[in-house]
Amino acid sequence: MRLVLFGPPGAGKGTQAKRLAEQHGLVHLSTGDLFRAAIKAQTPLGQDADRYIRDGLLVPDSVTNGLVAEKLEEMDYDAFVLDGYPRTIPQAEWLMQHLADHDAPITAVVSLVVPEEDIVTRLSRRRTDSQTGAIYHLDFNPPPEDVPADRLVHRTDDHPDAIRTRLGEYHRETQPLEVFFRERSSFFEVDGTGALDDVQGRVADAIADTRGLSGI
Ligand code: AP5
Repeated sequence: MRLVLFGPPGAGKGTQAKRLAEQHGLVHLSTGDLFRAAIKAQTPLGQDADRYIRDGLLVPDSVTNGLVAEKLEEMDYDAFVLDGYPRTIPQAEWLMQHLADHDAPITAVVSLVVPEEDIVTRLSRRRTDSQTGAIYHLDFNPPPEDVPADRLVHRTDDHPDAIRTRLGEYHRETQPLEVFFRERSSFFEVDGTGALDDVQGRVADAIADTRGLSGI
């Protein structure tokens, strides 16, 4: 199964991608996580990406596609869920061609739909466990008490200015992909609001409808 999770910042892509990965034995490929790991390790890629991410801007397509190409090859072009990629038309065109070259078409694209007013609330109160990568929300999905406070990270791009810029980038660069995917893939819109388990159930129902998924 080869899935793409699509949606605005804070739609719950990371949260649901982790669940899908666990449920179906998929590799969770998040370009945001890959960039953050490179920033932490202070690699040249990380230093380059940091300048964009901190301000809420997209990292250039050539850099991002190169990183994804490397990872797709490692996972033999199968059993993955893409989170936060592709997010521009050139990235999507490159991905479709690359996967076609390896006879590995996308199984389904799932779009998480969340009203914009929920997004700022979600992002400003998000915390990530720096050790496990678990994603929490201080109100909606609080971290367990045994996770030490100094392990809980508030992302550098989760401040109001960067959130505004990220939403602008989303509307300008990423939202047009919806039409692109509708024309080329099995595309499912899923209500991304409500309890995490309920959203997970809706995502599961959507991908179960996809032809060719039997036996997964
Ligand atoms: P990335 O890390 O991909 O960020 P994003 O797309 O902005 O998405 P987020 O991680 O903010 O949100 P999410 O949808 O994963 O939601 P989450 O599950 O965490 O990218 C970061 C940056 O890297 C980009 O801005 C860009 O600079 C760069 N980058 C990455 N990919 C790139 C690419 N392809 N091209 C160019 N640049 C790229 O949930 C959010 C919060 O909501 C959490 O607190 C969670 O607990 C909570 N929550 C989740 N579900 C629910 C629910 N149902 N109800 C209530 N709260 C919920």
